[in-house]
Amino acid sequence: MNSQGEQKDLAFVHQMVGQTSTISDADFELYRNWIYQSAGISLTPTKKALVVGRLSSRLRELGVTTYRDYFEYLTTFTNQQERKLEQQRVINLLTTNETYFFREEAHFTYIQHSLFAAWAGQPIRCWSAASSTGEEAYSLAMLLDSHYPGRWQIVGTDINSQVLHIASQGIYPMLRHEHIPQVYLKKYCRKGIGSKQDTLKIVHSLRSHVKFERANLQRSLDDLGLFDLVFLRNVMIYFDKSTKQRVITNVASRLKNGGILLIGHSETLNGLDCNELQLLQPSIYQKRSNAD
Ligand SMILES: C[S@@+](CC[C@H](N)C(=O)[O-])C[C@H]1O[C@@H](n2cnc3c(N)ncnc32)[C@H](O)[C@@H]1O
Repeated sequence: MNSQGEQKDLAFVHQMVGQTSTISDADFELYRNWIYQSAGISLTPTKKALVVGRLSSRLRELGVTTYRDYFEYLTTFTNQQERKLEQQRVINLLTTNETYFFREEAHFTYIQHSLFAAWAGQPIRCWSAASSTGEEAYSLAMLLDSHYPGRWQIVGTDINSQVLHIASQGIYPMLRHEHIPQVYLKKYCRKGIGSKQDTLKIVHSLRSHVKFERANLQRSLDDLGLFDLVFLRNVMIYFDKSTKQRVITNVASRLKNGGILLIGHSETLNGLDCNELQLLQPSIYQKRSNAD
């Protein structure tokens, strides 16, 4: 039987879980506006459960019982540095980071068969914008290392600091290898040992060509320099039209003339003002050579 103290603790936990398991419409609106301003992400009203599912354990960890109190903590916390950290934590929790190696494989086939010859061995810079945990960037790195006999570099960026940490380490659960062709698996992945035997690590020679940094696609991206190839895949689905417009203008400004932009197969640039981008094939665009 539980002691009186334990019963009190349990009642307290139940009360807290109860309070953090729902969010009022008004409080949801606060988070919805905040994540829209911060990351450009549009949460429809159907996403209330998602916000609760992703934030509730943080509230409990802090001993905060209502979403309103946590919002105040998040936005008016006195110490600016801690507030920034907490805000990054919420961005990490509210972004959706699903990805896998060689996702939308047709793009990799296109790169190999249409771009390598056109690049003719010149040094190439590629960008995995919205890289998530890095699988997209390393898939491209495997392809380039195996088939492109020129110098190349890949930059991966994301707004989520946690996924960037995983990306930089290049360590993945073994289960994630299923889309990596056998020949690349042998050449570029090492099985972990001991407590890490269920993981694979991308070899250093490949990782040394790939760097990851935080970037918000809504803000100026000029510091990144210019690229020959950009992946902007499966991120615009989270944006409304005005954010998409801002992002596509920013991203197009980072493409060299003649450079290639790949978007997700379920995404479209229809209805956006991006005349400097010419559609080559579904989901594949080229920046016009006379774009400046
Ligand atoms: C579903 S993942 C896509 C990963 C990869 N591009 C792919 O296609 O597999 C979307 C990524 O976009 C990132 N993201 C969302 N909003 C962003 C923003 N405003 N700036 C930069 N990255 C953002 C998320 O953190 C997430 O990692």
